[in-house]
Parts: sequence; structure tokens; C-alpha cells
Amino acid sequence: MSEINANNYPDQVTVVDHPMVQHKLSILRDKETSPKLFRELVKELALFLSYEATRGFELEPIEIETPICQMTAYTLKGRKVAVVPILRAGLGMVEGVQEMIPAARIGHIGLYRDPDTHLPVEYYCKLPEDIDTRDVLIVDPMLATGGSAVAAINFIKARNVASEKIRFLAIIAAPEGIKAMDEADPNIKIYTCAIDECLNEHAYIVPGLGDAGDRIFGTK
Ligand code: PRP
Ligand code: URA
Repeated sequence: MSEINANNYPDQVTVVDHPMVQHKLSILRDKETSPKLFRELVKELALFLSYEATRGFELEPIEIETPICQMTAYTLKGRKVAVVPILRAGLGMVEGVQEMIPAARIGHIGLYRDPDTHLPVEYYCKLPEDIDTRDVLIVDPMLATGGSAVAAINFIKARNVASEKIRFLAIIAAPEGIKAMDEADPNIKIYTCAIDECLNEHAYIVPGLGDAGDRIFGTK
């Protein structure tokens, strides 16, 4: 694909452009937003992203009785879900996704970016034992170079999860990260609230929101 930007991106990417999402995202980006409000917004945006990411889940009919009469209603068809935050910042999204999918199991992948090389360094990985039977939602607020996302996806695929069952939820994505994901595996669907302009010389997303982990945990 030619240059990736907010108006031109691969088919596997869904940009959640709902006005409520865009309104909340603007407050999230603002450097004056407090850590408390930042955390609340990350949680809410994660809920909206998971709502979109589960749109393709299959339904099956069940017979129920309302107070008025019998009817054929619809229920989710045998879906089991795992939510996998990339530590640290991904932790901020877990509660929002759990509100949408309370029965989801949670795995954790610990990665940080080396400040000089910007490459991901692994320090933890604990996933549900039966992850190969589940749909997997990987959550991380920022898809920058894509290094962390691709590393996380490789951990999950090494546990026999098919690409089609993996979805990546990021609040903001850079064109560079989308390209890296597309090259690594075009079958993995990406859900994001925005595709930003580019990365700066420190591999931060521009305009972005700064360091998501530091803003969630108030470490700077
Ligand atoms: C951030 C972010 C992603 C990663 C994205 O985490 O939460 O995990 O950077 O960058 P990439 O696409 O270039 O890999 P960071 O490494 O800063 O760790 P933290 O969450 O512990 O702050
Ligand atoms: N990680 C962040 O937290 N922010 C960025 O802009 C890029 C990577």
C-alpha cells in the first residue's frame, strides 16, 4: 500500500470515528489533563474499542419468555475471550474491556522499549493456559513503531492462536506501526481511535498524547 495516513489505511484497520470517542480522545491528548481523568478516559475508550472489536462475534438463537410472550432471542455463540494488556500502559485499558466482556480471562505481556534502540525488551509473559481456544484482544494505548505489538503477537501465535482470532486495540496508532503490523501479519485486525501523523526522533507519536504509561501511572 502507498503511504498510510488517516485517510488511507489497510482493510484490517478500523478507525472508531464516533463523535463521543473523538471528543474523549481530544481531552486525553491535552497535556493539562490530570492522571485521574486520563485513566478514566483510557478505560472508557478501551470500552468503545472493544465494542467495535467484538462486532463480528457470532450469535445463536435461544428461546426465552419475556413477561409478555415467548420469543426467539439471540445470544453469543460459545465465545471465549482473553484480554492481553502489554505492560505497563495496556493495564489502563483492561477494566474498560472487562466491562464489555466480564467473563474474559486476562493474560499479561511485559515489554518496554529500549530508550536508545526503541526496540521492545521482554520481561514478563503469563497467558491463560487455554488461550488457543480463545479470541484474543491485545490492548495497548499506543501503536508507535509497532515493535511491541509485533512482539506481543508473536508470543500469542507461538501459543497456537490463529491470526484471525487475534485483534489489536490501540487508542492511537502511527502509520509506521500499522505498516509494521501489516508486514508482520495482515490477517490481524487493528482497532484504533485515530491514525496520527508520524513518529518523532524518539519514536513518540506526533501529535499523540506523550508517554501513555507515565500519564496513567503519574511517573513523570
Ligand atoms: C509504550 C506503549 C507501547 C509501546 C509502543 O510502552 O505503551 O507498549 O511503547 O511503542 P512501539 O510501537 O514503538 O513498540 P513503553 O515501552 O514506553 O513501556 P511502558 O508501558 O512500561 O511505559
Ligand atoms: N509509547 C508512548 O507511550 N507514547 C508514544 O508516543 C510512543 C510510544
